[in-house]
Amino acid sequence: MKDLAQLRREYQNQPLDETLLPESPFPLIQQWLSQAIEAGEIEPTAMCLCTVDAQGQPSGRFMLLKGIENESFIFYTNLQSRKAAHLSYNNKAALVAWWPQLARQLRIEGSVTLLPREKAQAYFLQRPRGSQIAAWASKQSSPTTAKALQDAFAYYEQHFAHEPMECPPYWGGYQLFPHRIEFWQGRPNRFHDRILYLKKGKRWQKIRLAP
Ligand SMILES: Cc1cc2nc3c(=O)[nH]c(=O)nc-3n(C[C@H](O)[C@H](O)[C@H](O)COP(=O)(O)O)c2cc1C
Repeated sequence: MKDLAQLRREYQNQPLDETLLPESPFPLIQQWLSQAIEAGEIEPTAMCLCTVDAQGQPSGRFMLLKGIENESFIFYTNLQSRKAAHLSYNNKAALVAWWPQLARQLRIEGSVTLLPREKAQAYFLQRPRGSQIAAWASKQSSPTTAKALQDAFAYYEQHFAHEPMECPPYWGGYQLFPHRIEFWQGRPNRFHDRILYLKKGKRWQKIRLAP
C-alpha cells in the first residue's frame, strides 16, 4: 500500500466570502446540495449521523437525507435500531456531509425529534417495493444470519403479495433541528474557508473560523 502520509490533494475552490452569504444557512445548503447533484456525487444526500449512547460513547453511520422542512433535516430508519436507542436516551445529534467532487464539508448539530407517524407512513408507501419488504424483514442492528434474513424477505414478499403494503410499526423518521451549522470549503495550502452559522433566537449569526 502507498504511504498514506504522502497522499495529498490540493483544493482549488473559489473563496467562500461570509459577507456575500445569506443570512440563513438554509439557502446555502440547498445550493450546495444542488451543486453536489450537478457535480455527479454518487450519494449527494448521504450524511454521517452521529449519536451518543448512555455511556457517552459516540457512534456515526451514514444516512440518506430525505428532506429539509421547517429548518429541520429529515431522515428515516428503524425505530428499534441502535441509533434509535441512542436518540431516545440523548436526542442531541450531528450530521456531517462530505462532497469530494466539490471539496466541501457540511457539519450540522442540533436536537432530534420523532417525525409524526403519518408523515413516515406516507413516505414509506412511496418507497420501492424491495425496500419496503426489506424494512419488514430486518430487525435493524440485531444479530442474525444470512439465512434468517433471506427467509424473512421471502416471507414478507409472499405476505404482501396478498395484503396491501403498510409501514412497519417499528419504522419511522426523525427530524434534526440545528442550532449550529458549519460550511467548510477546501482551499489551497490547507488554508480552507470555514463559515459557522449559530442560531441566536430566530436569527442566525455568521462567524468565520480559522481553518
Ligand atoms: C450511503 C448510506 C446511506 C444509508 N442510508 C440509511 C438510511 O437512510 N436509513 C437507515 O436506517 N440506514 C441507512 N444506512 C445504513 C446505516 O449506515 C446503518 O448501517 C444502519 O442504519 C444501522 O445503524 P445503527 O445500528 O447505528 O442503528 C445507510 C448506509 C450508507 C452507507
